[in-house]
Amino acid sequence: MSAAPVEWLDSWDRPVGAARVAAAFVARWGTAPDGVWSAPGRVNVIGEHTDYNGGLCLPMALPHRTYVALRRRDDDVVRLASAQESAAGLITLDLAEVGPGTVTGWAAYVAGVAWSLREAGHPVHGFDAVVDSCVPYGAGLSSSAALESAVAVALDDVHELGLAASDAGRARLAEICIRAENEIAGAATGGMDQSASLRCRAGHALLLDTRDGSTRHIPLDLATHGLALLVIDTRAEHQLADGQYASRRAVCEAAADTLGVTTLREVTDLDAALARLGAAPDADTVARRVRHVVTEIARVEQVVALLDADAVDQLGAVLSTAHASLRDDYEVSCPELDLAVDAAVRAGALGGRMVGGGFGGSAIALVRLEDAEPVAAAVAQAFADAGWSAPAFLVAQAADPAGRD
Ligand code: GLA
Repeated sequence: MSAAPVEWLDSWDRPVGAARVAAAFVARWGTAPDGVWSAPGRVNVIGEHTDYNGGLCLPMALPHRTYVALRRRDDDVVRLASAQESAAGLITLDLAEVGPGTVTGWAAYVAGVAWSLREAGHPVHGFDAVVDSCVPYGAGLSSSAALESAVAVALDDVHELGLAASDAGRARLAEICIRAENEIAGAATGGMDQSASLRCRAGHALLLDTRDGSTRHIPLDLATHGLALLVIDTRAEHQLADGQYASRRAVCEAAADTLGVTTLREVTDLDAALARLGAAPDADTVARRVRHVVTEIARVEQVVALLDADAVDQLGAVLSTAHASLRDDYEVSCPELDLAVDAAVRAGALGGRMVGGGFGGSAIALVRLEDAEPVAAAVAQAFADAGWSAPAFLVAQAADPAGRD
């Protein structure tokens, strides 16, 4: 039997992506756009399902970006086209009529950002836009936040709002994008993805404290330690807008309420908190959810301490512990993610875990540089042996945040 092929998900060089989307704009409307802006997808090193609990997370921007060519209009009309859709797929909207429940599909992320900017008091006009992207779609690598953030910096620029010029302004833009995703796209996500896409820095992971929005840029240069972060897109379907994510969030909020704290971040004595939750209905499930969140926040601190101490090779064990917690306590993994992590570790990875919301999407594995290819081959083979569709791979490099191209 021949070995399973290994598919790598390459990113585009920025000038290539920008030229491509600008040409699509001209082909569509016969005039040049005002400009091209782009924003990255992200992968989270550690700190999963902590962002809606006031906790810590440590994402990094990927070189894979979503590109938007955009031209401002003087009326309220929004016309959208996507290179990923058929030529007939032009979407036209009236910005004045956008509100919760009015737009579906990918246009909700775009129109939602314009709506949210207006809700925040910024006088935003209609626009024509074409979107193109090399962020793997549906892979749990934040293609939706990349789209929102690219549109946010584009609208910021063409309306001269000046928000993208400072980190404080970018934090405001992240809030605006989060509101768009929560209220117009209808996904109750926590905000890590938008903050990563707008506030990360090349060569660094972003330590984000979601309690107060403060950040610290942590240098992340795995290659000098002979290491790489392999991302495995399992190609298993995941859908954040479905009930599982929202129900995890609701359980955490109810548990915080029972414990008399604003968020689970305030839990300082885990054993005491678990004992207190013991009387509630569904006590065991609730306790496991809380244990994941509290221990995961501690793991972010542990990883940051290891990075600060240059003890990068010790990260693997923390990643694997996080995976077990996400799988057993938070119950957001799935057979494809578990196999991806197990096969990677069996093939020599130092550790690994599922990333993002879960129930599909991607996993990461910390590997020695020279092991990236063989580990990817072993995971691809394990999927082929299981009779599943082939996964795809990329090696994560901490890249630039959203900006003008
Ligand atoms: C998704 C959400 C984020 C975060 C992660 C889990 O990616 O968009 O806000 O909650 O899941 O860490």
